[in-house]
Amino acid sequence: MQRRHVITGLAAAGASCSWMPSWAAEAMQHAVPTAAPSPLLDANLLPRGASLQEIPRLANISLRTGYFKATLTAAPVDVPLVPAHAPTTFWTYNGGLPGPLIELMEGDHVEITFVNQLPQPSTIHWHGLPVPPAQDGNPWDLVPPGGQRTYRFTLPAGCAGTYWYHPHPHHYTTEQAFRGLAGPLIVRTRHDPLAAIPERLLVVSDLKLDQNAAIAPNDANDVMNGREGQFALVNAQHQPVLPFHAGGRERWRIVNACSARYLRLTLPGSSFTLVGTEGGLLDAAQHGLTELLLTPAQRVDVIVDAGARQDQGEVVAAVYGRGKMGDVAPEQARKLLSVDFSAVVQNTPLAPLPTRLGKVPDLGRVTAHKRVVFSENMSMAGGTHSMQFLVNGREYDMRRMDLVSRAGEVERWELVNESDMDHPFHLHGTQFQVLQSKFEGVVTPAPFRAWRDTVNLRSGETVWIKTVQRTRGVRMFHCHILEHEDAGMMGQLKVV
Ligand code: C2O
Ligand code: CU
Ligand code: CU
Repeated sequence: MQRRHVITGLAAAGASCSWMPSWAAEAMQHAVPTAAPSPLLDANLLPRGASLQEIPRLANISLRTGYFKATLTAAPVDVPLVPAHAPTTFWTYNGGLPGPLIELMEGDHVEITFVNQLPQPSTIHWHGLPVPPAQDGNPWDLVPPGGQRTYRFTLPAGCAGTYWYHPHPHHYTTEQAFRGLAGPLIVRTRHDPLAAIPERLLVVSDLKLDQNAAIAPNDANDVMNGREGQFALVNAQHQPVLPFHAGGRERWRIVNACSARYLRLTLPGSSFTLVGTEGGLLDAAQHGLTELLLTPAQRVDVIVDAGARQDQGEVVAAVYGRGKMGDVAPEQARKLLSVDFSAVVQNTPLAPLPTRLGKVPDLGRVTAHKRVVFSENMSMAGGTHSMQFLVNGREYDMRRMDLVSRAGEVERWELVNESDMDHPFHLHGTQFQVLQSKFEGVVTPAPFRAWRDTVNLRSGETVWIKTVQRTRGVRMFHCHILEHEDAGMMGQLKVV
């Protein structure tokens, strides 16, 4: 199946602009204009300001300790969302928006049955978790509509962290995600040095509603740049209020579950202490960060101290330019949630954070190298103009192995972005460590070691990572802007 995405709407932009590479501007001239994207719902019509809700946990039906057993059913469900409008039909796991929180322990034997009641084939991918390839919901392991399968895996020691799960069927991931299919997953350990700190889970997702409060389809700009709707929700709520703990300190696990939206998070008046990334805790806390940039699929674990605050704060996604092309609206800062510090008891003594948090040891001597180049290309295939998103010059092909690695071998990967847009690179099956990056001629070593499964590549940037695959089988690597992934910005790594 080969699906080409025709670029539309762009033509309306007319003459070339400074943000557009000359080849793109030239191709635009010939692009066929089609209907403009449908008008969207007025953002003020979606109620906001309710108290932040906790995401319900997926119940464990296993009676044996060390075992986790449950069912996730993906199905359409109608949710009354916008007053005086018909309910919005989402696709959900077990009716939840976001999907239920899967809370596991290191060492758990996990058995989750996926029941597919969608009109499309699907899979569940356990993003970031070290699960065997056959259990990782890869695009060729489809569960047909009406079908089901059970995913089984055992969590190794040392993988405690904040993860998430989402569909991964090629060409359908985008739609299934923007209709609501994604949920958080936390792996805990009995040795968490921060366990005493009250915790919040904040899952940020994107929502685009048309004037009837129905989920809008992707338009041409979404297909090219990645979809960004008029709403960025937190735990599926519109600008909720987080009642900050009276004790003055909270640990926030933040998941960027948006299709394409980059989150440059700020909390004016306060700073963040970064304690963890995708694959778990850092060696040591990083204090005093005034912003956190999360690409789609990235997670962070941060400590927030109220200090002397008793006011209303706001978590704001500040402007971040990721090189979008075409006739797109200028970037704007957006409030994600309010933080109500009014209950904070003043002068409560806060213990210093432990100096040692997790373990992020050097992976050891590198004995193999890989190179991955992300690029884009304007294509005239089939007589229509379309944008191609390429990995090492090619579109994804399920039948092709793009790279081969040996299990257990430490590798250095050079990740190159030759395109005009930022792209978040994601690798399945393992967590990697960023070594350094090179941007506009300047080489910057990673300021600290961290476990990551997704890293941003700015336009023109090269990033070097160190990684090792432990299990034989086929792993995916791709851009985590879901529209780009679905368009073929994905490759396969065969681990032998
Ligand atoms: Cu979050 Cu290959 O995916
Ligand atoms: Cu993944
Ligand atoms: Cu991309």
